[in-house]
Amino acid sequence: MNILLMGLPGAGKGTQSEHIVKDYPVIHIATGDIFREAIKNETPLGLKAKSYTDHGNLVPDDVTNAIVRERLEKDDVKTNGFMLDGYPRTSVQAQALDQNLAELNTQIDAVIYIDVDPEVLKDRLSGRIICRNCGATYHRIYNPPKVDGVCDNCGSTDFYQREDDKPEKVAHRINLQMESIRPILDYYEERGLLHKINGQQDIEDVYRDVRDILATIK
Ligand code: AP5
Ligand code: MG
Ligand code: ZN
Repeated sequence: MNILLMGLPGAGKGTQSEHIVKDYPVIHIATGDIFREAIKNETPLGLKAKSYTDHGNLVPDDVTNAIVRERLEKDDVKTNGFMLDGYPRTSVQAQALDQNLAELNTQIDAVIYIDVDPEVLKDRLSGRIICRNCGATYHRIYNPPKVDGVCDNCGSTDFYQREDDKPEKVAHRINLQMESIRPILDYYEERGLLHKINGQQDIEDVYRDVRDILATIK
């Protein structure tokens, strides 16, 4: 099973991915997570990406395409399939992905777009907190840990806010990505791959819609 999970910043891609990987063997590949990890470790990729991600701008296509290509070539992806979270985000990336998949002799089975109103996204991003130990994502109001201040997943009490979730960066990210995502949605719709789901429901209800789509593919 090879799927793309798309949506504007804060739509719930990461949150739904956490559910999906518990029920399906697919490999979760999130370009944003790869960049944040590289920045934390101060690798050459991290040094290149930091000035873009810090300001909520897109990392150049050639850099992003190369890291995705490298990840798609790994054996675990060949065996279990992939779930790309936050890639492609430009038409150039969508075309590079197609070419890479053709060379790797595989294809996309479904594209899931989590649709959420931009005004709602601002609230979601400004209230997001992440467990520093295991990366689980919460929201102070909409999706708090079961025990206040303690990660459900690993018990850690250490949470942080993403640099690009600061209020002054959030609106910029949303506006920029609204522009870049539109042509890609058209592109997948024309190919009959696009499934739009309502992202303004409870997390469990969004996930039920995701599962309904996944049930239609192998
Ligand atoms: P990335 O990490 O992908 O950031 P993003 O697209 O801005 O998306 P987010 O991770 O912010 O949102 P999400 O959809 O995962 O939402 P989440 O589930 O956390 O990318 C970061 C940066 O890396 C980019 O800005 C760019 O610089 C670079 N980059 C990445 N990919 C790139 C690419 N392809 N090309 C170039 N550059 C790239 O949920 C958000 C909040 O809402 C959480 O608090 C959650 O608890 C809550 N929530 C989730 N679902 C619901 C719900 N149904 N109801 C209520 N609350 C909910
Ligand atoms: Mg995410
Ligand atoms: Zn945790």
